[in-house]
Amino acid sequence: MKKVLIIAIAFLAFSCKKQEAEPAEKQAEPETAVSEGMQEEVQTPEQLGETLFKGKGTCASCHKVDTKLIGPSLQDIAKIYKEKNGSIVSFLKEKSDPIVDPSQYALMKPNIVLTKTMTDEELNALEAYVYSTLK
Ligand code: HEC
Repeated sequence: MKKVLIIAIAFLAFSCKKQEAEPAEKQAEPETAVSEGMQEEVQTPEQLGETLFKGKGTCASCHKVDTKLIGPSLQDIAKIYKEKNGSIVSFLKEKSDPIVDPSQYALMKPNIVLTKTMTDEELNALEAYVYSTLK
């Protein structure tokens, strides 16, 4: 009888330990969830580009994603730059000539004054955003 009791206690103690172990494992989960959340807060180049495009770049006032407004659509720009293997970044630095619609360049040119003051990170982000419209 005593033996049975000891075994029962041992069994109980063992199963208790098991139960204790589980919540500890679960506690680890929110931690990974938090770090995933933090990663989401870090903007991808495309997201930064979109923010600049619609924000301080004011590009969105002339360019729409899929239709021509005052300037060509972003999809047209992305397509032509891809086909011709051009660099949007170097265009925005005034280091290469317009290849999409050179006859309308006079309207775009004033914006180059602004984009020339942007960092490489910002210009790469704008380029990434323009290309992301092709997906
Ligand atoms: C006042 C209107 C206007 C604004 C604002 C504007 N654009 Fe443009 N954009 C144009 C027009 C018009 C063209 C077509 C002329 C041309 O191709 O250069 C153009 C062309 C372009 C091209 C293609 C250039 C090429 O090779 O022909 C790119 C890239 C571009 N814009 C990016 C931008 C970005 C980035 C911004 C914001 C910083 C911006 N634009 C703001 C009017 C504008």
